[in-house]
Amino acid sequence: MEKEKIKQAAEMIEKADYPVVLTGAGISAESGVPTFRGKSGLWKKYDPEAAVSISGFRRDPEPFWNFAQELLLEHDVQPNPGHIALAQLEDLGLIELVITQNIDFLHQRSGSNKVLELHGTLNKATCLNCNKKYDWEDLVPVIKAGKIPECDNCKSSKIKPDIVFFGERLPEAALNQAWEAAERSDLMIVIGSSLAVYPVASLPAVTQDNGGKLIYINADSGQQDYLFDLIIQGKAGEILPEILKIIN
Ligand code: OAD
Repeated sequence: MEKEKIKQAAEMIEKADYPVVLTGAGISAESGVPTFRGKSGLWKKYDPEAAVSISGFRRDPEPFWNFAQELLLEHDVQPNPGHIALAQLEDLGLIELVITQNIDFLHQRSGSNKVLELHGTLNKATCLNCNKKYDWEDLVPVIKAGKIPECDNCKSSKIKPDIVFFGERLPEAALNQAWEAAERSDLMIVIGSSLAVYPVASLPAVTQDNGGKLIYINADSGQQDYLFDLIIQGKAGEILPEILKIIN
């Protein structure tokens, strides 16, 4: 592991006035949640248009539920040491906000309280026909049985999770909040994201343009490595607990 760099990251976090974190699928990889890009990424297996576009979902929700089943139910998905270290850094007052692209709600499950979910969450769902609300837990037994959830009020099969499908707008209030946080932040730590999907991928540059520093913790190189002041290559679930250990 990159010991010197980990020490440097810990110092930067302790010194920062308004440190924020931006996470992507990589932080959940060690929890058994597959990432999107790369050799065994979900987009090698699923057609995003069929599985996660709003028009595809309205036409036929089945590909989406297959995708959701693989994302969260194929393994016993639990927060990993990376999520937990971030929650503890928040408890210590060393993280102001976690901005995430993930829909797996693992940050909240590990105890992070200040989380902005820019791509929405699988934790809640709404019937497109009658607006009845559902929790993920209500839907799990049906998905596990390989069936498509059906609304128990109106019998529609269009129970849409509160995620941002391709073709939908990002939640405006959350996006504005993320932008403001990125502008105000003097340190953004980007963890487990290829930084390939906009507008979220613009956030590190917003921080940098306002004089902030950038740390990248990622298993591989990403699409904007040139921006970063410090790059630590490796697994988030190993690096973040090491940073926390130094701070403690
Ligand atoms: P990607 O799959 O594009 O990138 C995940 C990144 O995490 C890659 O750069 C990996 O190298 C890295 N990684 C993998 N395992 C890791 C680990 N254990 N520790 C640290 N890094 C690791 O995922 P995102 O950048 O999150 O959007 O993708 C962004 C968006 O693209 C997703 O939110 C999704 C997708 O289309 C929607 O569904 C709207």
